Amino acid sequence: MRSKLATHHTQAVFTLRGNELTAMAGGSKKRRRVEKKRGKRKHEKEGITPLNVKYWLQRYKLFSKYDEGIRMDEEGWYSVTPEEIAIGHAHKFGGGLVIDCFSGVGGNAIQFARLCQFVVAIDIDPQKVVMAFNNASIYGVEDYIDFIIKGFFQLAPYLKGDVVFVSPPWGGPSYKTIQNFTMDLLKPKDGYSLFQAAQRITPNVIMFLPRNVNLNEVEELSWLSSHPLMLEIEENYLEGYFKGITVYFGTSAHRN
Ligand SMILES: C[S@@+](CC[C@H](N)C(=O)[O-])C[C@H]1O[C@@H](n2cnc3c(N)ncnc32)[C@H](O)[C@@H]1O
Repeated sequence: MRSKLATHHTQAVFTLRGNELTAMAGGSKKRRRVEKKRGKRKHEKEGITPLNVKYWLQRYKLFSKYDEGIRMDEEGWYSVTPEEIAIGHAHKFGGGLVIDCFSGVGGNAIQFARLCQFVVAIDIDPQKVVMAFNNASIYGVEDYIDFIIKGFFQLAPYLKGDVVFVSPPWGGPSYKTIQNFTMDLLKPKDGYSLFQAAQRITPNVIMFLPRNVNLNEVEELSWLSSHPLMLEIEENYLEGYFKGITVYFGTSAHRN
């Protein structure tokens, strides 16, 4: 019953996006200018800071149900996983208990909850957790997520799950200016420490990393486990733009 519901919603997202694109492509210059002006006034009303206007313009790619009351903060705007990519993460694993170690405003946790049995969503920032709960309610999945306000490293020794999803802070939008994004640049600790803490919970680890991440270092991670883990690297695009890299370790690799 749950998976039927999820499939139906997923189709709706794609249909809506398709329609939007057609409408945009067919619009005149004047109409586009008017829409841009209207959009400007709308974002001012919503209190969007100049830094986040760029992300606000992509709001339906972040959350297709944005207009139903989605809540975001400054960091949430630039760090949430776009919905289509989060759906891809959830489809790839597709079951069991998921631990989302850095759940933010809920971009990934919501999509995991639509397809998997249950999600434990952890974030150190209480405001993010409140927003994630609100956003999960809009998607009707709040009953399938346990929200925890805590630092991941403090909680890690007590956690058990089928897959651990690691979407750590990349250090803000300026990560794009770095040519070779090395593991030590991830927050709140370097990528090796993050991976080791995650794979002590389960060898099935999924990491969402910047597109400019050093791939040699990514491969080295699989050797940190007592038995070298299978690994799959996926490039994530959104309407032709390269958004990030997802690394699947253990049995989460080479599914589908
Ligand atoms: C990249 S964002 C996660 C975005 C999320 N995947 C989404 O789609 O909404 C990273 C999150 O990690 C949280 N964070 C930072 N340090 C943390 C820690 N030690 N433990 C848990 N969460 C932490 C931040 O508050 C932020 O919300």
